[in-house]
Amino acid sequence: MLDLHNHVLYGLDDGCRTLDESQALCERAHALGHVGFVATPHIRSGMFDNTVDRIRARRDEVAPVVQAAHLELWLGAEYYFDEHLLAAAKQKQLLTLGETSRYVLVEFPQAQLPLRYDGVLFELRALGYVPIIAHPERCRGIERDPEATWAALSRVALLQLDLGSLLGRYGEGARRTAQFLVKRGAYQVAAGDLHRPADADEILPKAKKELAKLLPKGHSVTALCLDNPRHIVSNHAPEDLAASS
Ligand SMILES: [Fe+2]
Repeated sequence: MLDLHNHVLYGLDDGCRTLDESQALCERAHALGHVGFVATPHIRSGMFDNTVDRIRARRDEVAPVVQAAHLELWLGAEYYFDEHLLAAAKQKQLLTLGETSRYVLVEFPQAQLPLRYDGVLFELRALGYVPIIAHPERCRGIERDPEATWAALSRVALLQLDLGSLLGRYGEGARRTAQFLVKRGAYQVAAGDLHRPADADEILPKAKKELAKLLPKGHSVTALCLDNPRHIVSNHAPEDLAASS
């Protein structure tokens, strides 16, 4: 697995708290089949006020530990969906997945779908970015009507499944919504959203099995966990992703 969404870089958000935790997470992830991390610290104004420079500095500091665990390390960020996101996009300042790709990981508020979300996502596309919605199944506005929201979202964005959702880590609603979307082949990426070393063992083996059971014909765990993340950091076009619907 090339894990496209995680909080392995310590001390930047609610993820790993120390260098030791970053190291332990890398070691466990490697033991469970990870080939690398695309680190995605939160960028959320007023809560996680991370700058791109700060994130890069922490990446440089943690990189030797990740490499010692025989893992690749790429950089990205998890952007909260707010007015700062569009402002940074207009200035071409977004930290994209793999740093040189067009893909940007975007997190919706949990309570509801933002107003005009489709218009804002379309604007991001017009600016040359391709938004990937982090764990849409955990947004209650999507949970209410996954079919209709998926129809709207799939025109402008890609979707990333949080593997832990399939295990009920975020409640029954998120689990049901994740199952619904997985069965329809709605996701292009599946990632761990790992925050602490223990998350690796708790989430990865069971959730990958569950995912394999639910995916429709023509879709595979390898495509979602490894091939598509590789295409994304390599900036291949969205049409080149495996089994996109
Ligand atoms: Fe996250």
